[in-house]
Amino acid sequence: MSTDAIVLLKNDHKEIRKAFRDFQKAGVSAHATKGKLVDRMIELLTVHTYIENEVMYPRVRELLPDLEDDVLESYEEHHVADLLVMELAPMTYKDERFEAKATVLIENVEHHIQEEEQDWFPKVREGLTRTQLREIGAELAAAKEKAPRRPEQPSALKKTVDAVLA
Ligand SMILES: [Fe+2]
Ligand SMILES: [Fe+2]
Repeated sequence: MSTDAIVLLKNDHKEIRKAFRDFQKAGVSAHATKGKLVDRMIELLTVHTYIENEVMYPRVRELLPDLEDDVLESYEEHHVADLLVMELAPMTYKDERFEAKATVLIENVEHHIQEEEQDWFPKVREGLTRTQLREIGAELAAAKEKAPRRPEQPSALKKTVDAVLA
């Protein structure tokens, strides 16, 4: 199994996009399905932003200082996604804003994933060695094990608080 950091993160992105597509394809009255898909999106995003915030971004920032601006922009984009996820988590389809908030979350995250994959990952791959990418990949895999899965878990809240107060 490859533990290359970029491969691992792209696999996460693929799962996230799949949940987005399924949500968008679900019929207007597929309430139960949409509720489950939103729960799935929330879990995937909570884990993914956690491992990028805790491992990928700080490592890259340290090893490739030229990419600092990209990293800072990414933290801000994660912060916006965190806020939307926190607001969406307690909602059900009965909430007037459920569908709209899920849609805005999807749009925001799609944009962020696209920037990472098309712009940022290529720069990171160019700047780091295969060994460095594998080492970061192993750290990402380890962080995934202990990552929060719901936004109200303490480690996820701490992340949000850090982002607001930093
Ligand atoms: Fe990200
Ligand atoms: Fe990502």
